Amino acid sequence: MALAETMSGFRESRWFKLVWIVPVVLVGLFLLVLAARGIRASDGGQSFLRSFPGASQLPSFAPVGFPAWLAWQHGLNAFFLLFIIRSGWLVRTTKRPDAYWTRNNSGLIKTPGQPVRISLNLWMHISIDTLWLINGALFYVLIFSTGQWTRIIPTRWDVFPNAISAGLQYASLNWPAENGWVNYNALQVLSYFLVVFIAAPLALVTGIRMSPGLAARFKPIDRVFPLPVARAIHFPVMVFFVAFIVVHVTLVLATGAINNLNHMYAVNNGYSWAGFWIFAASIVLMVAAWIGAKPIVLRSIAGNFGRVGR
Ligand code: HEM
Ligand code: HEM
Repeated sequence: MALAETMSGFRESRWFKLVWIVPVVLVGLFLLVLAARGIRASDGGQSFLRSFPGASQLPSFAPVGFPAWLAWQHGLNAFFLLFIIRSGWLVRTTKRPDAYWTRNNSGLIKTPGQPVRISLNLWMHISIDTLWLINGALFYVLIFSTGQWTRIIPTRWDVFPNAISAGLQYASLNWPAENGWVNYNALQVLSYFLVVFIAAPLALVTGIRMSPGLAARFKPIDRVFPLPVARAIHFPVMVFFVAFIVVHVTLVLATGAINNLNHMYAVNNGYSWAGFWIFAASIVLMVAAWIGAKPIVLRSIAGNFGRVGR
């Protein structure tokens, strides 16, 4: 009885209209795999894969492996982004926030007039953004001063055919050889480039444009960069980040998790469990911080930097 009721409720819900999507996606994926396998088996496909094995050559001075600072920054970035996405989502979905924050207009940052009042969710968003930004700026400085940039910025045009080749190898379910310690495959390079040099700056520029405290100063550029444009870009950038993270973490875990986790969490190219345990500890930390970030805790932290109220 209960099941029948649930089923009839489901049939009337708006989700039911989406049910056809599942078989369509499955059939689509199946056809994609068949097509990729067909191309790989053909003479043309084989010679294409021989000319473009899936990774573009690195400049001769490219470093091998990762230094500890890079692993720290990668881990901190994941930690900050978790809370940036959470608070951004809350900013978007909370219609009537139950707490607000107003900056103390004294000390270092003293401006004429009254500072604007923002929701506690937006206070959290902008505070973590600031930490994320410092981490990111330091990352830019360090990768350019050590040659690590060569790993995530394409330097040769053949990165594009190689990306097609890597895509073909993923799609045919015979995945490209893993060599992340020395060189990423071309699809990795392009997606890391997109995240670090396109998506992150876009989030920053559109986020600053939307900041309520700066609205008055942006009046002069209202025409060239209107607020609705910033809004229309900021949210899709989050969707891109979420999609990237889902695919990235899935592939890291599906293509030799133990070795990959050693690369980015224990900075070695071995097969011990060290990387896995450091990664696991970082996840525990994220879960603990997520649970700890209760409104009462946030209020008391925010209270140190301004006035919290309704
Ligand atoms: C917590 C989950 C995550 C895990 C387990 C993870 C794991 C990894 C691993 C193992 C690598 C090296 C891949 C290889 O050696 O082939 C890597 C590289 C990278 N990851 Fe992640 N990652 C995570 C989250 C993120 C997030 C949230 C972002 C950004 C949105 C990100 C961006 C990157 C970038 C840009 C690189 C290339 C870094 C460089 O070489 O300079 N990752 N990740
Ligand atoms: C330093 C960089 C960033 C700054 C300065 C910033 C700033 C802001 C501001 C001021 C708002 C409020 C807009 C409003 O009042 O309606 C906002 C909303 C939001 N932010 Fe950010 N943000 C940044 C980075 C990010 C990143 C990296 C993500 C996700 C990966 C993100 C996700 C969101 C989301 C989902 C919203 C709600 C948007 C909406 O209502 O459509 N932000 N951000």
